[in-house]
Amino acid sequence: MKIAITGATGFVGKKLVQKLGVDNQIIVLTRNLDKAKSTFPTTLQSNLEFVQYTPKALGDWQNKLDGCDGVVNLAGAPIAQRWTPSYKKEILDSRELGTQIIVTAIKNCNHRPKFLINASAIGFYGTSETATYTEISPPGDDFLGQVCQKWEKEAHKVQEAGVRLVIFRLGIVLGDGGALAKMIPSFKVFAGGPIGEGNQWFSWIHIDDLVNLMVSAIADSNIQGTFNATAPYPIKMSELCDKLGDVMNRPSWLPVPSFALELLLGDGAKVVLEGQKVLPEKTIKEIKYNFQYSDVKSALQEIVD
Ligand SMILES: NC(=O)c1ccc[n+]([C@@H]2O[C@H](COP(=O)([O-])OP(=O)(O)OC[C@H]3O[C@@H](n4cnc5c(N)ncnc54)[C@H](OP(=O)(O)O)[C@@H]3O)[C@@H](O)[C@H]2O)c1
Repeated sequence: MKIAITGATGFVGKKLVQKLGVDNQIIVLTRNLDKAKSTFPTTLQSNLEFVQYTPKALGDWQNKLDGCDGVVNLAGAPIAQRWTPSYKKEILDSRELGTQIIVTAIKNCNHRPKFLINASAIGFYGTSETATYTEISPPGDDFLGQVCQKWEKEAHKVQEAGVRLVIFRLGIVLGDGGALAKMIPSFKVFAGGPIGEGNQWFSWIHIDDLVNLMVSAIADSNIQGTFNATAPYPIKMSELCDKLGDVMNRPSWLPVPSFALELLLGDGAKVVLEGQKVLPEKTIKEIKYNFQYSDVKSALQEIVD
């Protein structure tokens, strides 16, 4: 297959390209060609084509989508940063406008891609210590809830052109990077512990399961709709830190106070300080995916090893 991917140089995209690039032609749509080329091993590069694109405007790059079998849209400005008003606009624009442009580019093709796999996030549901969210739960009305709704709304428009759409609402992805990469250093120096109260839910997914879920959705043309990409057993933040301490042979005793994180990330701290309990009900029922990592300790063990 020939598949175009935005956000291919990111934490998730890199792993997806490494898996798909073995026996597919991948078009890496990137804002920065040099960075993209240095992201992937030379052994893989014969199956990759690097294309500079402008996420917020159509351009010659859109011709590269013509004749592709499908598109995976993962691009978006990182949210774990301080949310100034202009950065909030970038968080939104990079997803809402970015997806609108990709969908328009797909619609403009003479030989249209047959599927669009689009990222979203469990931030869609808002945060709660008591509620349990599944794919049919209503959206939250906080900033991330609104961003996810607008992001998904743009993705839905691809269906007007008869293109199969799969949206994955990603939980917190555990792997060699992302959220865990920020926590492991403090555990290494015996200073690890829960972030904030520790009582908040942490709905996670191992990066291998996420990539395999995406590959399943690419391969099976019967799969369409919106799915939670989270492991079946979400946990509390305090349990995550206990288990991380266990697999690293380090104590989990030094809580990171909420105010320290808020000072650093401003509103961006919400994501880890509040949290949500999300279950992949429809994912299990319709994709029938067998999670390789359902329990967080095995996931953490694999990553730390
Ligand atoms: N990782 C998680 O735990 C998690 C959880 C929930 C949702 N998600 C969502 O899943 C997607 C992939 O996550 P990830 O962790 O792989 O993200 P990531 O590592 O931050 O990478 C995202 C990619 O998007 C592109 N990008 C960055 N800033 C951008 C901007 N301002 N405008 C347009 N493109 C930009 C970059 O690609 P180029 O520089 O090559 O253009 C980057 O490599 C993201 O949309 C993220 O919001 C991730």
